[in-house]
Amino acid sequence: MQVKIVEVGPRDGLQNEKQPVTLAGKLELIQRLAASGLTHIEAGAFVSPRWVPQMADSADVLAALDLAGPVHYPVLVPNEKGLDAALAAGAREIAVFGAASESFSRHNLNMGINDSLSAFAAVTRRALDAGLRVRGYVSCVLGCPYEGEIAPSQVARVAAALREMGCYEISLGDTIGTGTPNRVHEMLAAVRKQVPATQLAGHFHDSYGMAIANITAALQMGVHTFDSSVAGLGGCPYARGASGNVATEDVLWLLQGMGLQTGVDLRQVVDAAWFISDLLGKMPVSRVAHALGRS
Ligand code: HMG
Ligand code: MG
Repeated sequence: MQVKIVEVGPRDGLQNEKQPVTLAGKLELIQRLAASGLTHIEAGAFVSPRWVPQMADSADVLAALDLAGPVHYPVLVPNEKGLDAALAAGAREIAVFGAASESFSRHNLNMGINDSLSAFAAVTRRALDAGLRVRGYVSCVLGCPYEGEIAPSQVARVAAALREMGCYEISLGDTIGTGTPNRVHEMLAAVRKQVPATQLAGHFHDSYGMAIANITAALQMGVHTFDSSVAGLGGCPYARGASGNVATEDVLWLLQGMGLQTGVDLRQVVDAAWFISDLLGKMPVSRVAHALGRS
């Protein structure tokens, strides 16, 4: 069975790193990730540079990539202004990003859930008309830094709205990593009533070391797409305590061990993990990068 990995390190990872990474550094990271066989690499975000300065060079990143080739390079877009910039930069795929928590939505987007869904509907319509693919995110599907536990029905409502407006896939974000497998089951049972599992992705942050267990639970519920970040980079600037996404190399180890296919070369991802960690002057967070070591 095939599992799709959406590599989010160059966006979700680097958006939260204090140490700035040069354009050349970002491009070498993306080139290494693409060479490993990853076919979906989130490459940047057309958001306010005042809110997330690390993504300010996203147009330059896209300008250097082969956007017509086999690798998808989605970028985050929060509003019409972001869509204008993404279109001008030649993006072929965007992602809109909502939340299942009202407070998180206001902290992350400066608007409530309903207003954000109206804005995304307009952005998505324009993007689809322009021939782009649109992915949707729901943040705080298992917990919110401001509101605590989030009801599965609330996640299902936002996921259904994103699908309804035309998102081809809905990525469910455990933004602060507080989820556990039983709660993943409960949440997915509610969401699957609205969106088929084949259109869902799991986006697990590993703050409490639960991401691999949660991915296993999501696989049992029929989800076969997972977002992950090389070296376990990442977090979210609007979610205190959120650590990085689950490391791509840890996910690959799990999936290989389960006999699931990804088309991604683990050794090359581990090398990319050491490359970006050296550039940031830190150690990879992932267990597998340490266990397999440098080439
Ligand atoms: P706002 O301040 O309400 O925006 O921010 P505004 O419309 O009032 O405009 C204020 C200024 O921002 C204006 O500039 C606009 O032009 C500018 P000024 O006239 O003052 O010079 N502006 C923009 N500039 C560039 N690109 C744009 C843009 N829009 C307005 N697109 C806004 C609202 C949505 C812009 C802001 O809240 C924002 O950028 N938020 C993004 C936050 C973000 O990127 N968070 C991280 C990504 S989400 C995440 O990590 C979670 C995820 O991984 C899943 C999970 O883990 O759960 C996806
Ligand atoms: Mg995230």
